[in-house]
Amino acid sequence: MPREEALIKIFYLAAAVLFIFGIKGLTHPRTAVRGNLLAALGMLLAIVVTLTDKRIVSFQIIVAGIVVGGLVGVLMAYRAPMTAMPQVVAIFNGFGGGASALAVGAAFEEALKGGWIEEITVQFTSSAVLAGLIGAVSLTGSAVAFGKLQGWIRGKPILLPGRHFINIALVVTCIGMSAWLVMDPVWSVPFWTMTIVAAVLGIMLVIPIGGADMPVVISLLNAYSGIAAAGHGWVLNNSVLIIAGSLVGAAGFILTALMCRAMNRSLANVMFAGVGAVVTTAAESEDIYAGRVKSASPEEVAMLLEGARRVVIAPGYGMAVAQAQYAIQDLANLLNSKGVDVEFAIHPVAGRMPGHMNVLLAEANVPYEKLKEMDVINPSFRQTDVVLVIGANDVVNPMAREADPSIPIAGMPILDVDQARTVVIIKRSLSPGFSGIANPLFAADNCLMLFGDAKQMAMDLTAALKEA
Ligand code: TAP
Repeated sequence: MPREEALIKIFYLAAAVLFIFGIKGLTHPRTAVRGNLLAALGMLLAIVVTLTDKRIVSFQIIVAGIVVGGLVGVLMAYRAPMTAMPQVVAIFNGFGGGASALAVGAAFEEALKGGWIEEITVQFTSSAVLAGLIGAVSLTGSAVAFGKLQGWIRGKPILLPGRHFINIALVVTCIGMSAWLVMDPVWSVPFWTMTIVAAVLGIMLVIPIGGADMPVVISLLNAYSGIAAAGHGWVLNNSVLIIAGSLVGAAGFILTALMCRAMNRSLANVMFAGVGAVVTTAAESEDIYAGRVKSASPEEVAMLLEGARRVVIAPGYGMAVAQAQYAIQDLANLLNSKGVDVEFAIHPVAGRMPGHMNVLLAEANVPYEKLKEMDVINPSFRQTDVVLVIGANDVVNPMAREADPSIPIAGMPILDVDQARTVVIIKRSLSPGFSGIANPLFAADNCLMLFGDAKQMAMDLTAALKEA
């Protein structure tokens, strides 16, 4: 192996090691920033080393791409609010998958022209097919996920008639085109046909999924874009692309599995069941709530909090929408100063993305040791005087304990807040959460509703406590 090539391989290996340490760092909030920096450093190293490649045709195009892409990335990242992170991640993933599909197509055209790729092997065509197919699915699937979360496309599942047949036809076409390309790689038409059909398949697969399931879909598409990148690496014989793509693919699949497990749903149920399409009717809600729901004022709740020894705050999606984390931290600090023990109960799928609550509360400087995972805090609810449920609904819904499979959250582990002496729920109305079903907790004897925006109510509680 020439010296130059060996050096490139060593630098690629160093980049791969940095990726792995980066991912390791991301497993804990305290080391997450360092982990992110290490992985970014690894990527920088990989890019710089790749730029020394003799086969590069035009540095101008690469620099223009870096400048335009970098500008778009920085602008999007700065302008997107925290609540829009899932869709920003989705669209960036999608671009990665799309880039792999297009780059592989370009490599195939180059190979057909007899350019720098000397031989069209089976490894080359099969990797190209994999990257083209999965990259195209992840591009258009992510674009639909982005549209749904951004409110540009209807968030509710769109269930087209005959969609399973259409999907089977699309898959069969992709397989046919791929087989043709691998067996007879003499022209690029089968590749581009397969890529376009796969792009349609990406839309068809994501359109029937409800908006709130999008984080799971995004994580899955993220895994796909990793596989597309790994396939791209096989096409170019580029080890760092294969390693980075495999890491993204594996991490995405693990995250997808963890999210499904935390919701007690299979991936097939998320992908094909259209959860969120059926919403509890007003009449059904009336049956559960009529005459049983008690509401309280901030002053009344402040009195309860004043007399409590232990308070647990259970945040959910509504805290993210209201951006209430700072106001909640102020409230917790005030309670602490009055000698009340305050902890936060974190459900693994509270909010709309993994670690959503952890990220928001960390942003507001809530000490990490105050955040308790569901399994840790659940046994302590019986000894809790007041639970403040802030903008959470499904993750505290006792209906999840029912075995009835028609209940979309049946079997999902929940925060057992109903076991506390008093439960105060801050939300704006009795509307359901993501799953679309009513919540009997709101009508429970030990439950009080504090109707209003989470941030406003947290500030009102703080003000009322200061006056008390
Ligand atoms: P949800 O069940 O979606 O309930 C959120 C509640 O927040 C709503 O009922 C809403 O009621 C309230 N809300 C909205 N804006 C508010 C505001 N400004 N102030 C106060 N309240 C507000 O949320 P959850 O309990 O966090 O559960 C998460 C759900 O998402 C679960 O079903 C989970 O399976 C699903 N999910 C999560 C993830 C991840 S990874 N986190 C991924 C996929 C799906 P009002 O409109 O009455 O205010």
